[in-house]
Amino acid sequence: MCQPVHISVVKETAPGERRVALSPQGVSKLVALGHSVSAETGCGVAAGLVDDDYREAGAEVSDRSSLLQRGGVVLGIEAVRSGVNDSHVVIGLVDPLWRPVDVQTLAATGATVLSLELIPRITRAQSMDVLSSMATVAGYEAVLLAAARLPKMFPLLMTAAGTVPAARTLVLGAGVAGLQAIATAKRLGSVVQAYDVRPAATEQIESVGGRSIRLDLDTAQSEDSGGYAKAQGDDVQARQQQQLTPFVAESDIVITTAAIPGAKSPELITAAMVSEMRPGSVVVDMAAERGGNCAVTIADQDVEHDGVLVLGPTDLASRSAASSSQMFSNNLVTLLTHLTGDDGELHIDTDDEITAGTLVARNGAIVHQRVTDALASTTGESR
Ligand code: NAI
Repeated sequence: MCQPVHISVVKETAPGERRVALSPQGVSKLVALGHSVSAETGCGVAAGLVDDDYREAGAEVSDRSSLLQRGGVVLGIEAVRSGVNDSHVVIGLVDPLWRPVDVQTLAATGATVLSLELIPRITRAQSMDVLSSMATVAGYEAVLLAAARLPKMFPLLMTAAGTVPAARTLVLGAGVAGLQAIATAKRLGSVVQAYDVRPAATEQIESVGGRSIRLDLDTAQSEDSGGYAKAQGDDVQARQQQQLTPFVAESDIVITTAAIPGAKSPELITAAMVSEMRPGSVVVDMAAERGGNCAVTIADQDVEHDGVLVLGPTDLASRSAASSSQMFSNNLVTLLTHLTGDDGELHIDTDDEITAGTLVARNGAIVHQRVTDALASTTGESR
């Protein structure tokens, strides 16, 4: 007889967080698979999902300590870090490469920890990839934010009062978020240019309606085996900044999304480059959490630099909380279905590529090589 899994979803505690990791629809799917589900009181309210929706879907709604007492899988957008022990399998965003010391603390609770950031970028795992889902929402929201703050409309309009030119948008970094930003800005009527260090991005930029900018830099080795960008040397960065300057200067909106997994974000825009932009222009720096792509960015603050507004929001995915929660939940249901296999029991099978790639802590210790390496390279303090 198979052992059904008890799965809990918690209410997020981070300030301003409106998402929830599992939707009532996700609860229904898990209950149909034979699992029992508990939802923390009020967990979905900020995303428009009330406790009765969870009850109707088959979840028991209770306070956090009651649901944690039952052990089993604990789902959160941000991985739950306290109140857990060796009876729990914690699944959520752990930020393990940037905050490895915190992973050590979490590992010490004895909980088994799966970090959603580390889901391998393989076709089989695409439907579990929360980073892609959240980047999609964030790219869209970044454009809406810029549109609301720019003192210009996006589309070219020919009116009786004359011709109003289209706003010009530049997107730097054309991964998942950047491509969604290009597509959204284009749909709103802006003229869009984009640049990414990975040569493979050129075709993707053009496929969503952007014009791809090519710089005179050797970026053939810019991509790692996982499809992510690698850090560039200082000389390449300086030449990149120099060559991007005229493109930045002619843009009304610059959206930057460039990230290197586990590392500080590359500086693509210097303060001098911001000064070259027309007053009233807007920069949305989506890399603000990791230091930003723009030298003057301050995370979650409006910075005005020589008349240019530089924004570094870190809550973009949370702004469309209903959509992002739905996507996050779908990704988690697929992951849990994968982990529970045909017999409905939870398997932490380290021979499985997805499980092994995602498992960061077990039996009180960190078990992921990249996290161990990240820990060794810190000074002993969480960054
Ligand atoms: P990301 O969020 O780590 O980085 C965003 C973008 O910034 C990337 O395209 C990167 O190349 C770019 N970038 C980094 N340094 C830069 C610099 N100095 N100048 C300009 N651009 C720079 O990446 P994201 O969006 O998560 O995806 C990266 C790649 O992974 C893409 O090729 C994407 O298509 C691929 N991918 C594959 C998946 C799968 O096969 N399951 C799922 C999701 C993405």
